[in-house]
This record gives sequence, C-alpha cells and structure tokens, in this order.
Amino acid sequence: MINLKDIKNQFPIFKHQPGLVYLDSTATSLKPKIVIDKINEYYSEYSANVFRGIYPMSEKATAEFEETRGVVSKFINANNSREIIFTRNATESLNLLAYSLGRKIINPGDEIVTTIMEHHSNFVPWQVLAEEVGATFKIIDIDEDGNLEFKIQNSELLKQIITKKTKILTLTYVSNVLGTINPIKEIISTAKSINPNIIAIIDAAQAVPHLKIDVQELGADFIVFSSHKMLGPTGVGVLWGKEKILKDMYPFMYGGDMIDEVYVDRTTFKDVPHKFEAGTPAIGEVIAFKESIKFLEKIGMNNILEHEKKLTDFAINRLIDTFGQSIKIYGPKKIEDRGGIISFSFDKFHPHDIAQILADQGICVRAGHHCAMPLHTRLKVQATVRASFYIYNDEKDVEKLVEGLKKVKNILK
Ligand code: ALA
Repeated sequence: MINLKDIKNQFPIFKHQPGLVYLDSTATSLKPKIVIDKINEYYSEYSANVFRGIYPMSEKATAEFEETRGVVSKFINANNSREIIFTRNATESLNLLAYSLGRKIINPGDEIVTTIMEHHSNFVPWQVLAEEVGATFKIIDIDEDGNLEFKIQNSELLKQIITKKTKILTLTYVSNVLGTINPIKEIISTAKSINPNIIAIIDAAQAVPHLKIDVQELGADFIVFSSHKMLGPTGVGVLWGKEKILKDMYPFMYGGDMIDEVYVDRTTFKDVPHKFEAGTPAIGEVIAFKESIKFLEKIGMNNILEHEKKLTDFAINRLIDTFGQSIKIYGPKKIEDRGGIISFSFDKFHPHDIAQILADQGICVRAGHHCAMPLHTRLKVQATVRASFYIYNDEKDVEKLVEGLKKVKNILK
C-alpha cells in the first residue's frame, strides 16, 4: 500500500517544479516515476513495432502491449481482454461509437438521449449523427443542485425521455464541471426496464481514475476512458464494449493490421479488438499504461475516492468560510453526490483573470467552459474557474488556493 502522505515523492515533476500547486487533474493527471521509467524502458530497450516482427524485440513489445490489455480488462472486470480496444483518447472512443455503431443502428425517427452536462466529445458526435440521419437528439436536464433531472422513482418523467424509439442512451459518469457523480447503475437499469434494446454508453473519463468500476455491475454496454487522466501516458484511450456488439459494428479506420485478407475486389477484417486498431498504435504509451493501473490498485480505488471526497469537502468549506457570498460553487451540495472537482465563479472577476493571477503564484487551475458549453449556457455563465484534485493533492494545496484567491481579490477589486 502506498502512503498518500508521501505520494508527491513518487512524482518527479514536484522535484522539477518545487512549490507547484497542481489543481488541474481533470484536464490531465501528473505521472509517477514508474510510468515514466516504463516508457523509457520501451524506447531504450525494445522499441520495435507490435504484431509484425518475429524477432525477439518485436515479440517482447507485443507481449508487453497485450499485457496492458489484460491489466485494463481485469481493472474494470471485463469478460475478457478482447473487449478492450485501444484508441487515442476517450474522445476518439466516443467518435468511434458514433461512427461504427451509431451509423449502423440509428434510423430516421430514432432517438439518441444524452444530458446537458456532457463534455463536447459526448455531445457533438451524437448531435451531428442525429442531424445527418434525421433522428431525434434528446437532452436530460439538471436540477438547481446540478443533479440529473432524471428521477429514478418517477417513471412518468422517465417515459417522456426514454421511449421504445430510444436506441442509444449516452451519458457521463462524473461531470467534468459540476463534479456530479451520476447514479449510473440505477439510470441504466431503469432505462433498460422501459426499453430493453437501448444501448447504454458511459463516458467514464472522469470516473475510472477516481472510483472502482465494475462493468458487469454497471449494466452498461460500452464505457470509455483515457490513460492520461489516470496517471498514465497521453495518446491512449480505452473503449470497453460487449464483445457481441463490437463484433457486429463497422470498423472505424481501415489500414494496416486490422485486415484479415485484402484482394483487388474485396477485403475481410480481423476479429475484435484488432478490427478497431488500424495502424501503428502508441506502443510505448500503452505498455506504460499498465504501470499506472498497478499504481492506482496499490493505493486502492476506495482510498482514492475517500481522499478526494475529504479534500473536496474541506476545500468547499474553506472557500465558503473565507469568501462567503462572493464565491458561487456549482454542482451538488451533498458531498456524497460529487467527486474531486470544484467549479466556481468569484465575485464579478473574469475566470481567465482569476486563473492568470493564480498561475502567477504557481497554482494551476483551468478557466473557461471546460468543453461543456451547453452546460455553461444552462448555468447562465460563459466560463467558470475549476480546481480539481487527485491523489497527490492535500490540504496545503487548498490553503494555497485560498491564499491565492485572497490575492486575486486584492488585485482585481
Ligand atoms: N476533458 C478535459 C477537461 O475537462 C480535458 O479539462
């Protein structure tokens, strides 16, 4: 078990940037030494291509690459590692689904249901598809607390949203702005009780890094997430899907290594997962990704969630105690409904000015619409400031944020 108190020692960036207050893990996480070392190992010792060579370096790279698939599969409790597809990021996984699944099953008049709190990557591909095909694009709203207005008990309201025509329900597990943790299991089981043929897709980019996911238990058909948000390298996304549905889907990209046989008049394709992995993948990055999962497992996903919830609770209380009505924090009031993300408005100050003054003090936050413009329109703000936490953050970081915001107030008042 890794002690969370000493965790910063495992991240070389804190040696290079002493005093760094990194509160932007929702955008991307920092990387522990063990992950960086593994990338280095691949590029230094066996940087061959995968699935192509029969010489030992290529066999080693292929074995390491496939080992990651197995580690990912176990981590989310997939049925088998053939259900794990490597993409570039969660965005690509969602676009793959809109293309290879959506274009196969969505017909004019069908419905695609999503929510107002989606990241653009789980909104725009479906909006475009609906427009192209002549399908209906339906959006579940939020209540004043930033919870989905999807009253599980209220089947009348549910029936207005989910109908026999709904083919796809796609939603985020954790909002990248509000921090809301949606009751995914209940939502899927209720939706499938209304229409058993619905395909449920979960954008778990902000969930898999922070809480235990068991795909068997969730009842989803697909989930997507990204390595770089969970201590792993950039350039690696995951698409998990039920093998039976994956097998029926169109390939996404055509080219090297996804084909079975090519003739001048026809082509046949490999089986899953390789059917969806055309071209040379991010080999070293996939190989190193398994080290980040092992690292997270050593800490324990439940410990991670507990740490983040405690820190979020502490931060919300400190911000409200210090700034009172000047600070408006978005998202659920109850800590049990939210993860380690705090988006806020501060007085009449512009979010980008706030972020700049914090940056000058070595505090990294994100300002803007966080790739969730429909949500910001719904909240009636153009932009917010977002602070987000991960395993390497502690109460000292929160105190520095509070001090940083006092300075913002002094400068901008
Ligand atoms: N999706 C990432 C974020 O919310 C990039 O910042």
